[in-house]
Amino acid sequence: MAKLSIHTDEKKSKINRNIYGNFSEHLGRCIYNGIYVGENSDIPNVNGMRTDIVEALKAIKLPVLRWPGGCFADEYHWKDGIGPKETRKKMVNTHWGGVVEDNTFGTHEFLEFCRQVGCEPYINGNVGSGTVQEMSEWMEYMTFDGISPMADLRAKNGHAEPWKVKYFGVGNENWGCGGNMRPSYYADLYRRFQTYVRDYGDNHVFRIACGPGIADDYNWTEEVMRIAGNYMNGLSLHYYTVPGTWEKKTAATGFDTDMYYETVRKALHMEELITRHTEIMSHYDPEHKVGLIVDEWGTWYDVEPGTNPGFLYQQNTMRDAIVAAVTLNIFNAHSDRVVMANIAQLVNVLQSVILTEGEKMVLTPTYHVFDLYKHHHDATLLNSHLETEGVYAGVPNLTVSASEDENGVVHITLANISADTAYPIDCALTGKKYNTASARILTNSIGAYNDFDHPEDVKITDFDALTLENNNLHFNIPACAVMEITVS
Ligand code: AHR
Repeated sequence: MAKLSIHTDEKKSKINRNIYGNFSEHLGRCIYNGIYVGENSDIPNVNGMRTDIVEALKAIKLPVLRWPGGCFADEYHWKDGIGPKETRKKMVNTHWGGVVEDNTFGTHEFLEFCRQVGCEPYINGNVGSGTVQEMSEWMEYMTFDGISPMADLRAKNGHAEPWKVKYFGVGNENWGCGGNMRPSYYADLYRRFQTYVRDYGDNHVFRIACGPGIADDYNWTEEVMRIAGNYMNGLSLHYYTVPGTWEKKTAATGFDTDMYYETVRKALHMEELITRHTEIMSHYDPEHKVGLIVDEWGTWYDVEPGTNPGFLYQQNTMRDAIVAAVTLNIFNAHSDRVVMANIAQLVNVLQSVILTEGEKMVLTPTYHVFDLYKHHHDATLLNSHLETEGVYAGVPNLTVSASEDENGVVHITLANISADTAYPIDCALTGKKYNTASARILTNSIGAYNDFDHPEDVKITDFDALTLENNNLHFNIPACAVMEITVS
């Protein structure tokens, strides 16, 4: 028996919907043969964007999408990706497989994709190999409404109207692939570059500085906040869950129970990272003016056998669903500081929500978690308490998050991490009186996944076996499960 209490009269921070964001890089089959198939493809598309993918992302209300990288961002020169497609410059994608990047998907195409999905664009600029002028002109090109060299060029390329672009990243992983910089050097460069990322008209840019990376680099946060904290709206954080080592990450499927728990244990390290980085941020920014933007997170395994090692294509199992569920519960719990997160990546790369093969598409277990959690978008976090036990080396058996939406409806997301044990749950709701409860569930064995021949082995079903009496919910959560419970 596990005891859960949801204090509906103890309201905490607003859960920014952008926590449920995603990331799309020019990497493997994320953009090409992923979201973008071109206007002449036999695969149904609108202006080259796959209709099935657009519809799937609308269904989970994808709020924000980061592009064009990743490491690719600090090699990307945006002017190569505008104008007539046949004359766009070709380049080598040195980071990701050494393939030819023909730039047929550029600024116009990305912003068109965001328009179709209904999400906010988050553009990541080039500090590592770019110039201040280039970055400055990109914002002018996208957002200036009037007569200017870049606005005129945009009109010449078929888009007279400016776009709205709020989120802009000034460099990516500049401690590594983005230029191997030291924090004080980057912080000064950040101050300089961001000066020329202008607000045009009512387009107010939310400027995001490169934060700490794969190591627990608290010194980076300290230095960048000290030197440049007053010049940013957000600081990024990247953390990947690698079950093995970077040299031998281990396979996405066919893992044993020990490896499963080890993966979840590593995913839960996000809690410590956020806590410690936000402590440093609070020292320089006690008023929480700077948001933490976890703009790369998720599992990273060995690529699927026979696929290009530079394409980072991996399957996605119930283990990934549990990683997503516990991580999103952590983000919700820290939503007083975490204002955006972008799982890596959208389609066919790392912990994707969607996989494609030709005209076929599957929704991964991770996609279904984003579906179960979508009612947290912009809702108010509620205080909750769980009496729980551990199942493995510090890994708890359950994690929870609860929020109240604008209509007073409570949504509880609960993950049972245990690979083999179901738990009876006794959940008390304090506060006002609730009359109805319903639930949806995603559950299967830890290694279950969807593929192109079995696209629905792992899917959400309705869960009717719960009762609500005198503000007490009773139900059994099966092993390896993620639930959404709605109470009103
Ligand atoms: O998401 C894959 C890569 O991981 C990104 O390009 C980079 O920023 C990170 O190291």
